[in-house]
Amino acid sequence: MDMKREQWASKLGVILAVAGSAIGLGNFLRFPGQVVQNGGGAFMIPYFIALLFLGLPLMWIEWTIGRFGGGFGHSTAPGMFHSLWEKNRFIKYFGVIGIFGPIVIFLYYIYIESWLLGYSLFALTGKYAACATSESMLGFLRGYQGIVVNEHFSGLGTAYFFFLITFLLNGLVLYRGVQGGIERVCKIGVPLLLLLAVGLVVRVFFLGTPDPAQPGNNVVNGLGYLWNPDWSALKNSRVWLAAAGQIFFTLSCGIGVILTYASYLKKNDDVALSGLTAASANEFAEVVLGASLVIPAAYAFFGSEAMADIARGGVFNLGFVTMPLVLQKLAFGNLFGFLWFVLLFIAGITSSISLAQPAVAFLEDEFNLSRKKAVGIFMVVTFVLTQPAIFFLGRGVVDELDFWGGSFFLVVFATVETILFAWVFGMDRAWTELHAGSDIVIPKFYRFIIKYITPAFLLCILGFWLVQDWLPVMLLKGVNPADLPYVLGTRLGLLLLLAVLALLVRQSWQRRKQKEGVHAA
Ligand code: PFF
Repeated sequence: MDMKREQWASKLGVILAVAGSAIGLGNFLRFPGQVVQNGGGAFMIPYFIALLFLGLPLMWIEWTIGRFGGGFGHSTAPGMFHSLWEKNRFIKYFGVIGIFGPIVIFLYYIYIESWLLGYSLFALTGKYAACATSESMLGFLRGYQGIVVNEHFSGLGTAYFFFLITFLLNGLVLYRGVQGGIERVCKIGVPLLLLLAVGLVVRVFFLGTPDPAQPGNNVVNGLGYLWNPDWSALKNSRVWLAAAGQIFFTLSCGIGVILTYASYLKKNDDVALSGLTAASANEFAEVVLGASLVIPAAYAFFGSEAMADIARGGVFNLGFVTMPLVLQKLAFGNLFGFLWFVLLFIAGITSSISLAQPAVAFLEDEFNLSRKKAVGIFMVVTFVLTQPAIFFLGRGVVDELDFWGGSFFLVVFATVETILFAWVFGMDRAWTELHAGSDIVIPKFYRFIIKYITPAFLLCILGFWLVQDWLPVMLLKGVNPADLPYVLGTRLGLLLLLAVLALLVRQSWQRRKQKEGVHAA
């Protein structure tokens, strides 16, 4: 175990780092896409219920387990789970998901993040300025992605160039470490991105009714689309699953990232208020800022029907197709487009570095590697693994990665972690641990929620999923036959990655046992 573990420099620093991880493409792109795909106001009730009964409890659970595990010199889930349940030899293997999941999301997240860098320059230089309709803007995006060859792009070269820069930039931040890299970038990045978002929201609110011939298409109705609740949607299990999935994704929880960040806390650093603050910052960025940008803008210019059509074509299309179209209609359109994509790029990088950190920390802690070596290994391995997402984007590879890394394993991991915390570690110890050094007292009913409601909610989601989706997913139903080899290849690759990580865990435990002179695990 490495005794020189890294630490955060300040309380504000760790809160901004966790907020930086949470606030990302999920807030400004995925959230509006999900809202529109799930019928506007229908989405928001399950969303807030999931926030209160899943998101917030998981935030507290993860900050607490992370700090607790850090006390034993562990920065990742295998070691932490082992510390929570020392007698069990297998629980550490469940912890593997807490390294695997973030890597899987990283593999596509970083590529999408790199588009934002490209698009911010395109906005500034007016490269997409000639695209005046959704179709032509979509064509621009497809050309950039290398899916079609058109007048804008003749191949993947440009996208690859921006990917390389983004990838190296991430590596550089990680190389500088927790305090000198992650904390420093988030301390500047998070306030800056919030400022940019507020500026854009103000501009969007002044859009009013852009087309007097269509008086219904205006900003106020766009907000109404989102905020008028539709109670009948509560009967629809698909909306519940989507809302719970969005809560996990946006808060970066249920995946191991917050565990790692919290492991760099000191024993009596507050977790209760810090967790709440980071979650609140994320929700402000999502339901106040994120929701006030894309949806009102798209609604004012396109109306609800056309907006829904665009969102159905892909969850990110509103951000990459509609927003540039809307913004370039304004005075100083190039500048506003640039600000939109820069905002997203900053939000992206403060999240992608958090996705990398568990794997880096695992190599550092469990194999005693220096940070530089660990970052080097991580960069080489993920560079290779990112290639399929880049070259076979149109073949369903990213969707497959997102399904396993960004949805399925998240729910599994959250379920295991919650039961471990509330039932195995025990709610009395859990509650005491959560309040050690705490700056607030969490209302008592959260004890009940964490013990009963959160695990029951999670088991329901898993159950729903098993009943509704398990077989079709396993049988690759609905996959375009031409894409089958790519999707299957991705799935096997993921299985291999999971197995390799499990073996690494095994190896590191055996080494430790040998060192400690105790019998092998
Ligand atoms: N929360 C990030 C977003 O909203 O974009 C994405 C993310 C980061 C998910 C880190 C999971 C994670 F561990």
